Amino acid sequence: MAALTLREMLARSPVMPILTLHDAQVAGDLAQALVKGGIKVFEVVMRTPQSVAALRAMREATPEASIGMGTLLTAEDVHTARQAGAQFGVSPGLTPELAAAIQATQFPFLPGVATASEVMQARAWGLKELKYFPAQGAHGAAWIKDMSGVFPDVLFCPTGGIRPPDIPAYLALPNCCTVGGSWVVPPERLKDRDWAGITALAQQASAFGAP
Ligand code: 3PG
Repeated sequence: MAALTLREMLARSPVMPILTLHDAQVAGDLAQALVKGGIKVFEVVMRTPQSVAALRAMREATPEASIGMGTLLTAEDVHTARQAGAQFGVSPGLTPELAAAIQATQFPFLPGVATASEVMQARAWGLKELKYFPAQGAHGAAWIKDMSGVFPDVLFCPTGGIRPPDIPAYLALPNCCTVGGSWVVPPERLKDRDWAGITALAQQASAFGAP
């Protein structure tokens, strides 16, 4: 099967869980719990010493899922994520260094933006799937709606402070592809290895895409 485009990967789930993992030992079981709940795309953030090992374990446990690595801040982070098998990268922002690394490698990449100027800069680098961050801390779904007129070719993935009651307003917008959030995997459920509880939350997240 040909590799999916970033747009195709993001469209696989209405909600993209954002995962901070401190123990790679549980990563495979966690990935399986999410997939069992209908989630097909998720992001592991590169913010812990175990994140790279966790991503590798998840790729092995759930080859059917699209798994990205987030919080990529430098070209070296991009290299590390690709080496670990990440299928796409995510960043809270975009720098010339990151953009050059992406262009050199053709790595599917979702950089963060929060202003029209940042959207224009990302578009100038050929990037048209963008993370709107911090969505709830900034202007929420109204901002994404306002961008549709000026940037009809851009798709947004909002993240940051989004909880279930906020989600329908985002997904109602044609220029919003998926909504990111950490709520699908609460730290205490992960600590307790409550896979059934996490699958139930994944089912709740997947149901946002139901007709
Ligand atoms: C992140 O990158 O950590 C996300 O924006 C997660 O936001 P949330 O924890 O508020 O869902």
